[in-house]
Amino acid sequence: TNGVITIDPGYKNTGACTSGITFLDGEKGILRYRGYAIEDLAEKADFLEVAYALIFGNLPTEEQLAKFHEDIKENAIVDEEVKKILEAFPKNAHPMGVLSSLTSALTAFNPSSVNVDSEEEMYNAIVKIMGKFPVLVAWTMRKKKGFPLNYGSKKLGYVENVLQMMFEKPHEDYEINPIVKDALDKLLILHADHEQNCSTSTVRIVGSSHAGLFASLSAGISALWGPLHGGANQAVLEMLEAIKEDGGDTKKYMAKAKDKSDPFRLMGFGHRVYKNFDPRARIIKKAADEVLGDLGVEDPILDIAKGLEKEALEDQYFVDRKLYPNVDFYSGIIYRAMGIPIEMFTVMFALGRLPGWIAQWREMRLNKEPIGRPRQIYTGENLRDFKNISDR
Ligand code: SDX
Repeated sequence: TNGVITIDPGYKNTGACTSGITFLDGEKGILRYRGYAIEDLAEKADFLEVAYALIFGNLPTEEQLAKFHEDIKENAIVDEEVKKILEAFPKNAHPMGVLSSLTSALTAFNPSSVNVDSEEEMYNAIVKIMGKFPVLVAWTMRKKKGFPLNYGSKKLGYVENVLQMMFEKPHEDYEINPIVKDALDKLLILHADHEQNCSTSTVRIVGSSHAGLFASLSAGISALWGPLHGGANQAVLEMLEAIKEDGGDTKKYMAKAKDKSDPFRLMGFGHRVYKNFDPRARIIKKAADEVLGDLGVEDPILDIAKGLEKEALEDQYFVDRKLYPNVDFYSGIIYRAMGIPIEMFTVMFALGRLPGWIAQWREMRLNKEPIGRPRQIYTGENLRDFKNISDR
Protein backbone atom coordinates (compact mmCIF):
# COMPACT_ATOMS: atom_id res chain seq x y z
CA THR A 1 0.00 0.00 0.00
CA ASN A 2 1.07 3.65 -0.45
CA GLY A 3 -1.29 4.73 2.30
CA VAL A 4 -3.96 5.51 -0.28
CA ILE A 5 -4.14 2.51 -2.63
CA THR A 6 -3.79 -1.08 -1.34
CA ILE A 7 -2.63 -3.66 -3.90
CA ASP A 8 -4.33 -7.08 -3.69
CA PRO A 9 -2.79 -9.36 -6.38
CA GLY A 10 -5.45 -11.57 -7.98
CA TYR A 11 -8.03 -9.75 -5.84
CA LYS A 12 -7.58 -12.52 -3.21
CA ASN A 13 -9.09 -10.34 -0.50
CA THR A 14 -11.12 -7.85 -2.55
CA GLY A 15 -14.89 -7.92 -2.85
CA ALA A 16 -15.94 -6.50 -6.23
CA CYS A 17 -19.70 -6.38 -5.66
CA THR A 18 -22.64 -7.48 -3.59
CA SER A 19 -24.62 -10.33 -5.14
CA GLY A 20 -27.70 -12.40 -4.30
CA ILE A 21 -27.01 -15.18 -6.79
CA THR A 22 -24.47 -17.73 -5.45
CA PHE A 23 -23.21 -18.39 -1.92
CA LEU A 24 -19.89 -20.15 -1.27
CA ASP A 25 -18.37 -21.13 2.06
CA GLY A 26 -14.78 -22.20 1.32
CA GLU A 27 -14.12 -23.60 4.79
CA LYS A 28 -17.28 -25.70 4.98
CA GLY A 29 -17.43 -26.60 1.26
CA ILE A 30 -20.89 -25.09 0.84
CA LEU A 31 -22.26 -24.01 -2.56
CA ARG A 32 -25.81 -22.66 -3.05
CA TYR A 33 -27.49 -21.08 -6.08
CA ARG A 34 -30.20 -18.61 -4.99
CA GLY A 35 -30.24 -20.35 -1.57
CA TYR A 36 -30.78 -23.86 -2.99
CA ALA A 37 -28.09 -26.40 -1.98
CA ILE A 38 -26.00 -27.63 -4.93
CA GLU A 39 -26.52 -31.21 -3.75
CA ASP A 40 -30.32 -30.81 -4.07
CA LEU A 41 -30.12 -29.10 -7.45
CA ALA A 42 -27.70 -31.68 -8.89
CA GLU A 43 -29.94 -34.53 -7.72
CA LYS A 44 -33.45 -33.17 -8.28
CA ALA A 45 -33.43 -30.34 -10.85
CA ASP A 46 -32.73 -30.14 -14.54
CA PHE A 47 -30.36 -27.65 -16.12
CA LEU A 48 -32.94 -25.28 -17.60
CA GLU A 49 -34.74 -25.00 -14.24
CA VAL A 50 -31.45 -24.12 -12.57
CA ALA A 51 -30.63 -21.62 -15.33
CA TYR A 52 -34.00 -19.95 -14.73
CA ALA A 53 -33.41 -19.81 -10.96
CA LEU A 54 -29.93 -18.31 -11.37
CA ILE A 55 -31.09 -15.64 -13.82
CA PHE A 56 -34.49 -14.70 -12.37
CA GLY A 57 -34.10 -15.59 -8.67
CA ASN A 58 -36.38 -18.57 -7.94
CA LEU A 59 -36.96 -22.09 -9.24
CA PRO A 60 -39.67 -21.67 -11.92
CA THR A 61 -43.26 -22.90 -11.91
CA GLU A 62 -44.15 -25.27 -14.77
CA GLU A 63 -45.68 -22.34 -16.69
CA GLN A 64 -42.64 -20.10 -16.18
CA LEU A 65 -40.28 -22.86 -17.30
CA ALA A 66 -42.42 -23.70 -20.34
CA LYS A 67 -42.54 -20.06 -21.45
CA PHE A 68 -38.78 -19.62 -20.90
CA HIS A 69 -38.09 -22.73 -23.00
CA GLU A 70 -40.55 -21.63 -25.72
CA ASP A 71 -38.92 -18.20 -25.93
CA ILE A 72 -35.48 -19.85 -26.11
CA LYS A 73 -36.61 -22.21 -28.90
CA GLU A 74 -38.07 -19.22 -30.80
CA ASN A 75 -34.56 -17.73 -30.77
CA ALA A 76 -32.50 -20.83 -31.45
CA ILE A 77 -31.66 -20.07 -35.08
CA VAL A 78 -28.18 -18.75 -35.90
CA ASP A 79 -27.90 -16.56 -39.01
CA GLU A 80 -26.56 -18.63 -41.91
CA GLU A 81 -23.84 -16.01 -42.47
CA VAL A 82 -22.25 -17.04 -39.16
CA LYS A 83 -21.32 -20.35 -40.84
CA LYS A 84 -18.94 -18.41 -43.09
CA ILE A 85 -17.02 -17.22 -40.02
CA LEU A 86 -16.88 -20.79 -38.70
CA GLU A 87 -15.67 -22.07 -42.10
CA ALA A 88 -12.81 -19.56 -42.08
CA PHE A 89 -11.25 -21.24 -39.01
CA PRO A 90 -8.67 -24.01 -39.53
CA LYS A 91 -9.96 -27.45 -38.44
CA ASN A 92 -7.40 -27.57 -35.65
CA ALA A 93 -8.51 -24.24 -34.13
CA HIS A 94 -9.23 -24.64 -30.42
CA PRO A 95 -13.02 -24.66 -29.95
CA MET A 96 -12.83 -22.09 -27.13
CA GLY A 97 -11.27 -19.56 -29.52
CA VAL A 98 -13.90 -20.36 -32.15
CA LEU A 99 -16.72 -20.10 -29.61
CA SER A 100 -15.50 -16.78 -28.23
CA SER A 101 -15.33 -15.34 -31.76
CA LEU A 102 -18.72 -16.64 -32.87
CA THR A 103 -20.37 -15.44 -29.64
CA SER A 104 -19.07 -11.93 -30.20
CA ALA A 105 -20.03 -12.15 -33.88
CA LEU A 106 -23.66 -12.79 -32.88
CA THR A 107 -23.83 -9.11 -31.91
CA ALA A 108 -23.59 -8.13 -35.59
CA PHE A 109 -26.63 -10.30 -36.39
CA ASN A 110 -28.62 -9.23 -33.32
CA PRO A 111 -27.97 -5.49 -32.89
CA SER A 112 -30.99 -5.11 -30.58
CA SER A 113 -29.04 -7.16 -27.98
CA VAL A 114 -26.60 -4.30 -27.32
CA ASN A 115 -28.40 -1.30 -25.83
CA VAL A 116 -30.53 -3.12 -23.27
CA ASP A 117 -31.69 -0.90 -20.41
CA SER A 118 -35.12 -2.34 -19.65
CA GLU A 119 -35.74 -5.78 -18.13
CA GLU A 120 -37.69 -6.70 -21.25
CA GLU A 121 -34.80 -5.78 -23.57
CA MET A 122 -32.44 -7.78 -21.32
CA TYR A 123 -34.83 -10.74 -21.39
CA ASN A 124 -34.90 -10.67 -25.21
CA ALA A 125 -31.09 -10.70 -25.36
CA ILE A 126 -30.96 -13.50 -22.76
CA VAL A 127 -33.31 -15.90 -24.57
CA LYS A 128 -31.43 -15.19 -27.81
CA ILE A 129 -28.10 -16.32 -26.40
CA MET A 130 -29.65 -19.21 -24.42
CA GLY A 131 -31.04 -20.44 -27.76
CA LYS A 132 -28.07 -19.77 -30.02
CA PHE A 133 -25.16 -20.73 -27.77
CA PRO A 134 -25.90 -24.50 -27.76
CA VAL A 135 -26.05 -24.34 -31.58
CA LEU A 136 -22.59 -22.71 -31.68
CA VAL A 137 -21.30 -25.35 -29.24
CA ALA A 138 -22.61 -28.17 -31.47
CA TRP A 139 -21.38 -26.54 -34.69
CA THR A 140 -17.89 -26.08 -33.19
CA MET A 141 -17.72 -29.81 -32.44
CA ARG A 142 -19.29 -30.86 -35.76
CA LYS A 143 -16.84 -28.73 -37.74
CA LYS A 144 -13.92 -30.60 -36.16
CA LYS A 145 -15.58 -33.90 -37.07
CA GLY A 146 -16.41 -32.76 -40.59
CA PHE A 147 -20.14 -33.26 -39.95
CA PRO A 148 -22.83 -31.04 -41.57
CA LEU A 149 -24.10 -28.24 -39.31
CA ASN A 150 -27.59 -28.92 -37.93
CA TYR A 151 -30.34 -27.81 -35.56
CA GLY A 152 -31.65 -30.78 -33.60
CA SER A 153 -35.37 -30.59 -32.84
CA LYS A 154 -37.80 -28.19 -31.11
CA LYS A 155 -39.60 -31.26 -29.73
CA LEU A 156 -36.66 -32.03 -27.46
CA GLY A 157 -35.77 -30.70 -24.02
CA TYR A 158 -32.91 -28.21 -23.72
CA VAL A 159 -30.19 -30.72 -22.76
CA GLU A 160 -31.57 -33.48 -25.01
CA ASN A 161 -31.33 -31.05 -27.91
CA VAL A 162 -27.72 -30.26 -27.05
CA LEU A 163 -26.92 -33.97 -27.26
CA GLN A 164 -28.89 -34.36 -30.50
CA MET A 165 -27.08 -31.43 -32.16
CA MET A 166 -23.67 -32.58 -30.96
CA PHE A 167 -23.92 -36.26 -31.83
CA GLU A 168 -26.52 -36.96 -34.55
CA LYS A 169 -25.07 -38.31 -37.77
CA PRO A 170 -26.51 -37.45 -41.23
CA HIS A 171 -27.59 -40.99 -42.03
CA GLU A 172 -28.93 -42.41 -38.77
CA ASP A 173 -31.49 -41.59 -36.07
CA TYR A 174 -29.74 -40.49 -32.89
CA GLU A 175 -31.00 -42.27 -29.77
CA ILE A 176 -30.70 -40.13 -26.62
CA ASN A 177 -29.25 -42.32 -23.86
CA PRO A 178 -30.96 -41.31 -20.58
CA ILE A 179 -27.77 -42.04 -18.64
CA VAL A 180 -25.84 -39.60 -20.81
CA LYS A 181 -28.65 -37.03 -20.63
CA ASP A 182 -28.83 -37.21 -16.81
CA ALA A 183 -25.04 -37.01 -16.55
CA LEU A 184 -24.92 -33.93 -18.79
CA ASP A 185 -27.77 -32.28 -16.87
CA LYS A 186 -25.87 -32.84 -13.61
CA LEU A 187 -22.51 -31.62 -15.00
CA LEU A 188 -24.04 -28.47 -16.50
CA ILE A 189 -25.83 -27.71 -13.20
CA LEU A 190 -22.58 -28.16 -11.25
CA HIS A 191 -20.80 -25.68 -13.55
CA ALA A 192 -23.64 -23.15 -13.77
CA ASP A 193 -22.29 -20.42 -11.45
CA HIS A 194 -19.57 -19.81 -8.90
CA GLU A 195 -19.81 -16.20 -7.66
CA GLN A 196 -16.92 -13.91 -8.69
CA ASN A 197 -14.51 -16.37 -10.37
CA CYS A 198 -12.12 -15.14 -13.05
CA SER A 199 -14.45 -15.51 -16.05
CA THR A 200 -17.52 -14.15 -14.24
CA SER A 201 -15.56 -11.13 -13.03
CA THR A 202 -14.51 -10.66 -16.67
CA VAL A 203 -18.13 -10.74 -17.86
CA ARG A 204 -19.05 -8.22 -15.18
CA ILE A 205 -16.23 -5.78 -15.89
CA VAL A 206 -16.72 -5.88 -19.68
CA GLY A 207 -20.47 -5.54 -19.19
CA SER A 208 -19.92 -2.61 -16.79
CA SER A 209 -18.82 -0.49 -19.77
CA HIS A 210 -22.27 -1.28 -21.27
CA ALA A 211 -20.70 -3.38 -24.01
CA GLY A 212 -23.45 -5.80 -25.15
CA LEU A 213 -24.25 -9.10 -23.41
CA PHE A 214 -22.74 -11.19 -26.25
CA ALA A 215 -19.47 -9.20 -26.21
CA SER A 216 -19.29 -9.58 -22.41
CA LEU A 217 -19.89 -13.35 -22.68
CA SER A 218 -17.25 -13.62 -25.41
CA ALA A 219 -14.73 -12.08 -22.99
CA GLY A 220 -15.81 -14.54 -20.28
CA ILE A 221 -15.26 -17.47 -22.65
CA SER A 222 -11.72 -16.25 -23.30
CA ALA A 223 -11.00 -16.00 -19.56
CA LEU A 224 -12.44 -19.49 -18.96
CA TRP A 225 -10.13 -20.91 -21.67
CA GLY A 226 -7.04 -20.54 -19.47
CA PRO A 227 -5.62 -23.79 -17.94
CA LEU A 228 -5.67 -22.20 -14.47
CA HIS A 229 -9.46 -21.80 -14.82
CA GLY A 230 -11.91 -23.76 -17.00
CA GLY A 231 -9.16 -25.01 -19.30
CA ALA A 232 -8.04 -27.16 -16.35
CA ASN A 233 -10.59 -29.88 -17.22
CA GLN A 234 -8.78 -30.52 -20.52
CA ALA A 235 -5.36 -30.18 -18.85
CA VAL A 236 -6.36 -32.78 -16.22
CA LEU A 237 -7.04 -35.45 -18.86
CA GLU A 238 -3.81 -34.58 -20.70
CA MET A 239 -1.95 -34.94 -17.37
CA LEU A 240 -3.66 -38.26 -16.52
CA GLU A 241 -2.94 -39.57 -20.03
CA ALA A 242 0.73 -38.61 -19.60
CA ILE A 243 0.83 -40.45 -16.25
CA LYS A 244 -0.75 -43.50 -17.90
CA GLU A 245 1.86 -43.38 -20.71
CA ASP A 246 4.49 -43.19 -17.96
CA GLY A 247 3.23 -46.52 -16.60
CA GLY A 248 0.98 -44.87 -13.98
CA ASP A 249 3.90 -43.28 -12.14
CA THR A 250 2.03 -40.63 -10.10
CA LYS A 251 5.05 -40.03 -7.80
CA LYS A 252 6.99 -38.33 -10.63
CA TYR A 253 4.11 -35.89 -11.25
CA MET A 254 3.64 -35.22 -7.56
CA ALA A 255 7.36 -34.34 -7.35
CA LYS A 256 7.07 -32.05 -10.40
CA ALA A 257 4.04 -30.33 -8.86
CA LYS A 258 6.05 -29.58 -5.70
CA ASP A 259 9.21 -28.49 -7.49
CA LYS A 260 9.24 -24.68 -7.39
CA SER A 261 11.58 -24.56 -10.37
CA ASP A 262 9.06 -26.51 -12.44
CA PRO A 263 6.01 -24.54 -13.69
CA PHE A 264 3.96 -27.79 -13.72
CA ARG A 265 0.98 -27.85 -11.34
CA LEU A 266 -1.25 -30.76 -10.49
CA MET A 267 -4.17 -29.87 -12.73
CA GLY A 268 -7.61 -30.19 -11.15
CA PHE A 269 -6.18 -29.49 -7.68
CA GLY A 270 -6.42 -26.37 -5.57
CA HIS A 271 -8.92 -23.57 -5.39
CA ARG A 272 -8.93 -19.91 -4.44
CA VAL A 273 -11.97 -20.31 -2.16
CA TYR A 274 -12.43 -23.99 -1.23
CA LYS A 275 -9.84 -24.87 1.41
CA ASN A 276 -11.30 -28.21 2.54
CA PHE A 277 -13.08 -29.72 -0.42
CA ASP A 278 -14.97 -28.62 -3.52
CA PRO A 279 -18.53 -29.97 -3.07
CA ARG A 280 -18.84 -30.24 -6.85
CA ALA A 281 -15.79 -32.51 -7.04
CA ARG A 282 -17.41 -34.87 -4.51
CA ILE A 283 -20.60 -35.08 -6.56
CA ILE A 284 -18.73 -35.52 -9.86
CA LYS A 285 -16.41 -38.20 -8.45
CA LYS A 286 -19.48 -40.22 -7.35
CA ALA A 287 -21.16 -39.60 -10.71
CA ALA A 288 -18.03 -40.78 -12.56
CA ASP A 289 -18.29 -44.21 -10.95
CA GLU A 290 -22.04 -44.37 -11.66
CA VAL A 291 -21.95 -43.14 -15.26
CA LEU A 292 -18.98 -45.27 -16.34
CA GLY A 293 -20.59 -48.25 -14.59
CA ASP A 294 -23.99 -47.66 -16.24
CA LEU A 295 -22.36 -47.11 -19.65
CA GLY A 296 -20.17 -50.16 -19.15
CA VAL A 297 -17.06 -48.04 -19.80
CA GLU A 298 -13.80 -49.29 -18.30
CA ASP A 299 -11.39 -46.35 -18.15
CA PRO A 300 -8.02 -46.94 -16.42
CA ILE A 301 -7.71 -43.15 -16.21
CA LEU A 302 -10.36 -43.14 -13.44
CA ASP A 303 -8.23 -45.42 -11.28
CA ILE A 304 -5.16 -43.27 -11.95
CA ALA A 305 -7.17 -40.18 -10.92
CA LYS A 306 -8.30 -41.84 -7.70
CA GLY A 307 -4.74 -42.93 -6.96
CA LEU A 308 -3.43 -39.44 -7.54
CA GLU A 309 -6.13 -37.94 -5.31
CA LYS A 310 -5.31 -40.38 -2.50
CA GLU A 311 -1.60 -39.63 -2.80
CA ALA A 312 -2.13 -35.85 -2.81
CA LEU A 313 -4.49 -35.92 0.18
CA GLU A 314 -1.76 -37.70 2.17
CA ASP A 315 1.08 -35.46 0.96
CA GLN A 316 2.24 -32.85 3.50
CA TYR A 317 2.99 -30.24 0.79
CA PHE A 318 -0.59 -30.49 -0.48
CA VAL A 319 -2.09 -30.74 3.00
CA ASP A 320 -0.17 -27.65 4.15
CA ARG A 321 -1.47 -25.71 1.14
CA LYS A 322 -5.02 -27.06 1.46
CA LEU A 323 -4.98 -28.43 -2.07
CA TYR A 324 -7.94 -30.69 -2.87
CA PRO A 325 -9.55 -31.89 -6.10
CA ASN A 326 -11.69 -29.16 -7.67
CA VAL A 327 -14.60 -29.28 -10.12
CA ASP A 328 -12.24 -29.95 -13.03
CA PHE A 329 -10.52 -33.03 -11.65
CA TYR A 330 -13.10 -35.73 -12.47
CA SER A 331 -15.41 -34.00 -14.97
CA GLY A 332 -13.33 -34.82 -18.06
CA ILE A 333 -13.51 -38.54 -17.25
CA ILE A 334 -17.29 -38.40 -17.57
CA TYR A 335 -17.21 -36.21 -20.70
CA ARG A 336 -14.89 -38.73 -22.35
CA ALA A 337 -17.14 -41.66 -21.40
CA MET A 338 -20.00 -39.71 -23.04
CA GLY A 339 -17.98 -39.50 -26.30
CA ILE A 340 -17.09 -35.80 -26.00
CA PRO A 341 -13.63 -35.03 -27.47
CA ILE A 342 -11.04 -33.66 -25.00
CA GLU A 343 -10.69 -30.31 -26.78
CA MET A 344 -14.45 -29.79 -26.20
CA PHE A 345 -14.26 -30.22 -22.40
CA THR A 346 -13.86 -26.51 -21.65
CA VAL A 347 -16.62 -25.70 -24.15
CA MET A 348 -18.91 -27.90 -22.04
CA PHE A 349 -17.82 -25.88 -18.99
CA ALA A 350 -18.79 -22.70 -20.87
CA LEU A 351 -22.19 -24.19 -21.79
CA GLY A 352 -22.82 -24.90 -18.11
CA ARG A 353 -21.51 -21.50 -16.95
CA LEU A 354 -23.59 -19.54 -19.48
CA PRO A 355 -26.63 -18.99 -17.20
CA GLY A 356 -24.34 -17.96 -14.35
CA TRP A 357 -22.56 -15.40 -16.51
CA ILE A 358 -25.94 -14.14 -17.73
CA ALA A 359 -27.33 -13.92 -14.17
CA GLN A 360 -24.29 -12.00 -12.92
CA TRP A 361 -24.31 -9.63 -15.94
CA ARG A 362 -28.07 -8.97 -15.45
CA GLU A 363 -27.62 -8.32 -11.71
CA MET A 364 -24.73 -5.94 -12.44
CA ARG A 365 -26.82 -4.02 -15.03
CA LEU A 366 -30.00 -3.94 -12.89
CA ASN A 367 -27.94 -2.72 -9.93
CA LYS A 368 -26.59 0.04 -12.21
CA GLU A 369 -23.04 -0.85 -11.08
CA PRO A 370 -20.42 1.78 -12.07
CA ILE A 371 -17.85 1.00 -14.77
CA GLY A 372 -15.06 -1.18 -13.36
CA ARG A 373 -11.83 0.80 -13.16
CA PRO A 374 -9.27 -0.29 -10.50
CA ARG A 375 -6.28 1.91 -9.55
CA GLN A 376 -2.55 1.03 -9.25
CA ILE A 377 0.63 2.00 -7.40
CA TYR A 378 3.04 3.51 -9.92
CA THR A 379 6.58 2.06 -9.81
CA GLY A 380 7.97 3.40 -13.11
CA GLU A 381 10.40 6.23 -14.08
CA ASN A 382 10.17 9.73 -12.61
CA LEU A 383 9.76 12.75 -14.95
CA ARG A 384 12.55 12.83 -17.57
CA ASP A 385 13.40 14.94 -20.67
CA PHE A 386 12.53 13.85 -24.22
CA LYS A 387 15.60 12.95 -26.37
CA ASN A 388 15.65 12.98 -30.15
CA ILE A 389 16.24 9.56 -31.59
CA SER A 390 19.69 10.66 -32.88
CA ASP A 391 20.68 11.39 -29.27
CA ARG A 392 19.43 8.10 -27.72
C1 SDX B 1 -11.82 -23.37 -11.67
O1 SDX B 1 -12.54 -19.37 -8.88
C2 SDX B 1 -13.40 -20.30 -9.16
O2 SDX B 1 -14.44 -20.47 -8.56
C3 SDX B 1 -13.00 -21.17 -10.35
C4 SDX B 1 -13.89 -22.37 -10.63
C5 SDX B 1 -15.26 -21.94 -11.08
O3 SDX B 1 -16.21 -22.71 -10.90
O4 SDX B 1 -15.35 -20.87 -11.73
O5 SDX B 1 -14.03 -23.15 -9.45
C6 SDX B 1 -13.31 -23.24 -11.73
O6 SDX B 1 -11.13 -22.61 -12.29
C7 SDX B 1 -11.22 -24.40 -10.75
C8 SDX B 1 -9.67 -24.34 -10.71
C9 SDX B 1 -9.11 -25.05 -11.94
N1 SDX B 1 -7.65 -24.84 -12.03
C10 SDX B 1 -6.78 -25.85 -11.81
O7 SDX B 1 -7.12 -26.95 -11.42
C11 SDX B 1 -5.33 -25.46 -12.11
C12 SDX B 1 -4.43 -25.93 -10.95
N2 SDX B 1 -4.77 -25.11 -9.79
C13 SDX B 1 -3.93 -23.97 -9.50
O8 SDX B 1 -3.40 -23.30 -10.59
C14 SDX B 1 -4.46 -23.10 -8.36
O9 SDX B 1 -4.79 -23.95 -7.34
C15 SDX B 1 -5.62 -22.17 -8.63
C16 SDX B 1 -5.39 -21.32 -9.81
C17 SDX B 1 -6.89 -22.95 -8.78
C18 SDX B 1 -5.78 -21.29 -7.38
O10 SDX B 1 -4.64 -20.51 -7.32
P1 SDX B 1 -4.39 -19.50 -6.09
O11 SDX B 1 -5.59 -19.38 -5.22
O12 SDX B 1 -3.83 -18.24 -6.69
O13 SDX B 1 -3.34 -20.25 -5.24
P2 SDX B 1 -1.78 -20.02 -5.34
O14 SDX B 1 -1.37 -20.06 -6.78
O15 SDX B 1 -1.44 -18.80 -4.55
O16 SDX B 1 -1.21 -21.32 -4.62
C19 SDX B 1 -1.01 -21.36 -3.21
C20 SDX B 1 0.13 -22.34 -3.03
C21 SDX B 1 1.36 -22.01 -3.89
O17 SDX B 1 2.47 -22.57 -3.26
P3 SDX B 1 3.42 -21.56 -2.33
O18 SDX B 1 3.89 -20.48 -3.29
O19 SDX B 1 2.51 -21.06 -1.24
O20 SDX B 1 4.55 -22.46 -1.83
O21 SDX B 1 -0.29 -23.65 -3.45
C22 SDX B 1 0.49 -24.04 -4.59
C23 SDX B 1 1.12 -22.80 -5.16
O22 SDX B 1 2.34 -23.12 -5.82
N3 SDX B 1 -0.46 -24.64 -5.52
C24 SDX B 1 -0.24 -25.76 -6.21
C25 SDX B 1 -1.43 -25.99 -6.94
N4 SDX B 1 -2.32 -25.02 -6.67
C26 SDX B 1 -1.71 -24.19 -5.80
N5 SDX B 1 0.84 -26.56 -6.29
C27 SDX B 1 0.72 -27.63 -7.10
N6 SDX B 1 -0.38 -27.94 -7.83
C28 SDX B 1 -1.47 -27.13 -7.76
N7 SDX B 1 -2.57 -27.44 -8.46
